[in-house]
Amino acid sequence: MSPAAERAIVEAAAAACGYPDDQSLGLRRKLAEELDVDIDNVLAGNGSSDVIYRLGAAMLELGDNVVMSKYSFNLLSIVTKMFGSELRAVEMDRYHHDLQAVLGAIDDRTKIVYVDLPNNPMGSDVADADFRRFVSRLPSHVLLVVDEAYLEFADPEYRHGTIDLIREGRNVMVVRTFSKSHGLAGVRAGYAVGLPEMIAGLAVAGLPFSVNTLAQAAAEAAVDDKDFLARTVELNRREREALCAHLDREGIAYVPSQTNFVAIDLGSRAGAVVRSLEQSGVIVRHLAGYGLENFIRVSLGTPEMNVRFIDALTRALGEPFSGIAAADVEVDAR
Ligand SMILES: Cc1ncc(COP(=O)(O)O)c(C=O)c1O
Repeated sequence: MSPAAERAIVEAAAAACGYPDDQSLGLRRKLAEELDVDIDNVLAGNGSSDVIYRLGAAMLELGDNVVMSKYSFNLLSIVTKMFGSELRAVEMDRYHHDLQAVLGAIDDRTKIVYVDLPNNPMGSDVADADFRRFVSRLPSHVLLVVDEAYLEFADPEYRHGTIDLIREGRNVMVVRTFSKSHGLAGVRAGYAVGLPEMIAGLAVAGLPFSVNTLAQAAAEAAVDDKDFLARTVELNRREREALCAHLDREGIAYVPSQTNFVAIDLGSRAGAVVRSLEQSGVIVRHLAGYGLENFIRVSLGTPEMNVRFIDALTRALGEPFSGIAAADVEVDAR
């Protein structure tokens, strides 16, 4: 994390005997300034997971449905079922959101359409022109939730100007997090930007004091530390390029990534490779839980970690293949 955020946590610890600011006013004011929106457009959450949970709690009832791609960050699909609503999981188009198919799955009982841009677990994004066309065709009774957890890692052509849509009064909510490019996953801070009436609805749908004092202080400092963010994004870009160049050289298929991870297609060996990597102390996500038995998803780390991953992968692929099916391994999808 940013050294400034770390200092802010230490300083805030002295005040942590009292309750946090339940409105997260300092953090929301800073985000509002940063994004050029009103403070009433911003909700702070205990990570963006908290915001996603609140969306379900505030909006979903029996008989409603939620439309999202089959392979997406799966928290909203869990929350949808929790509140008795129907999940409409749409097939992707070669591991990219098929926005046309998403539109086709919407009906009168659709409350939320969710797209993660860039997408987790594939790391893909969509062309901006396709996104604009999609937004212009969305029926007005549907809330479009754009989860931009990995936005900072994406190339400029994948910035979809989603905050502008909210300024225009569109029924859109943008969800973001400090867990990824800001390196504050263990601290828990995220936020939503949306229309004031939607934000007010989410504000009452959570537990009191859910964003703790240390998280508010760290997130505020993180917003200000632009150098740290720029360095992180640049390091990630370089490491992602190096990893993908290695995969290209070795003829290993992967999905081009706009994030800080890469989904790699290892065919029927994926499960065996995951187990072999674990023996080397390298933990990657096997995507069998998504029904993607052939894929692993590896998060980029420091240059040393990435070299260690490549070495362990090379060793694992050199091992005789026992033919154990990847589907034999039990994994959860997150
Ligand atoms: C697309 C996406 N959204 C949201 C989250 C949740 O992040 P957090 O609750 O740490 O903010 C994740 C975490 O992996 C994610 O991949």
